[in-house]
Amino acid sequence: MQTTLTQKKLIDITCDMLILGAGHSPKAPSSLLAEIDQLMGGHISTIYANGEFKGNSGEICQIYTLDKMTVRRILLVGVGEHATDNTFRRASSIGIRYAQRQAAREIVLAFDLDEDKDRASKTLQAVVEGALLGSYSFTRYQTTPRQAPPESIQFLNPNPDQSSLEEALQRGIIMAEAANFARDLVNEQSSVLTPGALAAKAGTMAERFSLECQIIDQNQMQELGMGGLLAVAKGSSEPPTFIILRHRGLPESTDKDIALVGKGITFDSGGLSIKTADGMASMKGDMGGAAAVLGAMYIIGALKPSINVTALIPGSENMTDGSSYRPGDILRLMNGKTIEIVNTDAEGRLALADALSYASQEGYSPIIDIATLTGGCYIALGGVRAGLFCNDHTLSDELMESGEITDEKFWPMPVDDDYLEKFSSQIADMKQTGGRYGGASIAAKILEQFVGKASWGHLDIAGMEFFEGNPAFAETGASGFGARALATFVLKRAEANKPSE
Ligand code: BES
Ligand code: ZN
Ligand code: ZN
Repeated sequence: MQTTLTQKKLIDITCDMLILGAGHSPKAPSSLLAEIDQLMGGHISTIYANGEFKGNSGEICQIYTLDKMTVRRILLVGVGEHATDNTFRRASSIGIRYAQRQAAREIVLAFDLDEDKDRASKTLQAVVEGALLGSYSFTRYQTTPRQAPPESIQFLNPNPDQSSLEEALQRGIIMAEAANFARDLVNEQSSVLTPGALAAKAGTMAERFSLECQIIDQNQMQELGMGGLLAVAKGSSEPPTFIILRHRGLPESTDKDIALVGKGITFDSGGLSIKTADGMASMKGDMGGAAAVLGAMYIIGALKPSINVTALIPGSENMTDGSSYRPGDILRLMNGKTIEIVNTDAEGRLALADALSYASQEGYSPIIDIATLTGGCYIALGGVRAGLFCNDHTLSDELMESGEITDEKFWPMPVDDDYLEKFSSQIADMKQTGGRYGGASIAAKILEQFVGKASWGHLDIAGMEFFEGNPAFAETGASGFGARALATFVLKRAEANKPSE
């Protein structure tokens, strides 16, 4: 699929479908919509006047130009009364998806861009992201793919200055490709995407972008004392992997690395505390955190910001077997603390505890983990936002801002010390769970026991790894949630650290 900018005039555009971002007014001065209205002899104004299309965010309206223009069909896509980059991204995705259903092969997207260069770049990037996120489909197992991607997508650039927008186009492509890479990982079946296969995919991606890659095997895990990850893996015939990727954007720097930690449970059956059939059905997505981190490293590897970042992914299956770890077992985790197992389905915190201990022992800060960790968080936030648990207000604000920018939204959740008593154990340093209430905060508080003095943020993305009832980017399937937000956080940090000229 070709993705390019075009400086053609609206009147000269030839393609299967012209997708046009439309606000609440068809007559906004010097807008593309007003120009088309004129070319169409006021037809657009009539449609608005009749209330057939209002320009609300996500609304669509197809118009046949009946030889008034060289393009045969125009698709108006609403960007809302107060258009933002997020409504633009959504509109562009919705438009592309409609065009694809109509078998349009050559598509042009036209959205009004601000006169300010910086604003225009950000908006164009969002439009590009939306288009490429929307055109994604996972067709690997369809004998005849149900939907082919378009042959070409062109983005209208009415601005004579090509260079800054060319950069925005490339950034948008990278962001979307990375999220789609994460989606491929989550969509893949667990029988194929084993912990070993996840490590292999990470290795191939790392090579492509010249990231350092190290895979820690079971023997090394034993030497490091990763009792949590090893226990979770015991019931599986697939060996666990611990993936480390490094981007050294400032090799001479003495600053601490940013650590991105992703839960990589490639299938979560619950283990001996087995899940219900319904509860297990989507558990190939329990490596959604790992996918987000790998997606973020894809962007970081491609854009090479001046900052050091290390990605850590504990990978394992959680299965039932005669050798599975059991409720009542007591494990010693990498930082030396012991934990009494209550429910083998709370495996994520064990794998993450070792990864966080590793990050903390290496002296990384901030440490940001992302994990499909608790059903409780999904219940609380309904798959609309992910939970953000943090021990540092500045970090929390930065993560919130990054999520708002990429439309992968978080919401602050509590990690008060009062949660500590809920998982105190009579027999070990702590229990692995803390009862029915406040499960997401209890899990977060358990994770906090392993980060030492680091500044730490935890994103509980349970339920966010698949689209459900969010028709903007896809009906169903993996979302790639978190990849773009994490990368944006890193890029912003790198930008802020730059010595001013
Ligand atoms: N992977 C699940 C959490 C999950 C639930 C992710 C729904 C996505 C959608 C996790 O390992 C789990 O099972 N957590 C348990 C913990 C409990 C046993 C303390 C939960 O939340 O029920
Ligand atoms: Zn589980
Ligand atoms: Zn899990």
